[in-house]
Amino acid sequence: MSAELSPIDKAKFVAAKRAVAFVEPGMKVGLGTGSTAAWMVRCLAERVREEGLRVVGVPTSTRTAELARKLGIPITSLDDAKWLDLTIDGADEFDLNLALIKGGGAALLQEKIVATASDQMIVIADAAKEVAQLGAFPLPVEVIPFGWQTSKALIEELLVSMDVLDRRVTLRMNGDKPLITDEANYILDLHLKRIGNPRQLALVLNQIPGVVENGLFIDICDIVVVGHSDGRVVVKDINAGSETQERIEFAPALNIFADMGE
Ligand code: 5RP
Repeated sequence: MSAELSPIDKAKFVAAKRAVAFVEPGMKVGLGTGSTAAWMVRCLAERVREEGLRVVGVPTSTRTAELARKLGIPITSLDDAKWLDLTIDGADEFDLNLALIKGGGAALLQEKIVATASDQMIVIADAAKEVAQLGAFPLPVEVIPFGWQTSKALIEELLVSMDVLDRRVTLRMNGDKPLITDEANYILDLHLKRIGNPRQLALVLNQIPGVVENGLFIDICDIVVVGHSDGRVVVKDINAGSETQERIEFAPALNIFADMGE
């Protein structure tokens, strides 16, 4: 595997690299899911290897657990860890208040549980994920398979009274079958185009029978690290009310690509 990455992977890499610098020895760290989070797992594994950094990871999906195991990050379950110092994860969209849409990778349920059980959540993203208003990315909602069409109809009915621009709801597929999550559920994608009141929508969606969780993360994320392909990273901290910019040297160790094959 060559060290030549696409601009988008460079942006994801520098965001991941900067976020991993927040990890301190002895921390219990929630490990997110997705292509950006995979860079974070690689960068964290590099610190474990090179510095002997002592950490325990709590993965948010079977995919992330496999990657962490393969790269030598010690992992445990959330029930064993109980409470985490930090979770680092990707997002599909984030707004000015650091409200998020997550679940593009179908892992929103574990991701929300793990992030909520952490002192701090840091989101890593490329600049394209920043939006003025959430909703261009379809909002994932995890539902149990039993009676999913009823849950879908109830969601459609609910959306009529919500401040959204569109109301199409689709079942996420994996080929010609419904996609099955790690918890053996289905994902409904809500094509809303614009979500006027994400807080209200997040609350009412979870009242619908059959809905397990939705992909709106409100008041959960503390920091977003935005990566750019030229090495710039912008760190937005909602609690400090600060925004700082720095540059990350783009020099990934060659063995950081070890899991990606030739
Ligand atoms: C998985 C997620 C991901 O964090 C989100 O989809 C972003 O993924 P990527 O980093 O590949 O763009 O929520 O459920």
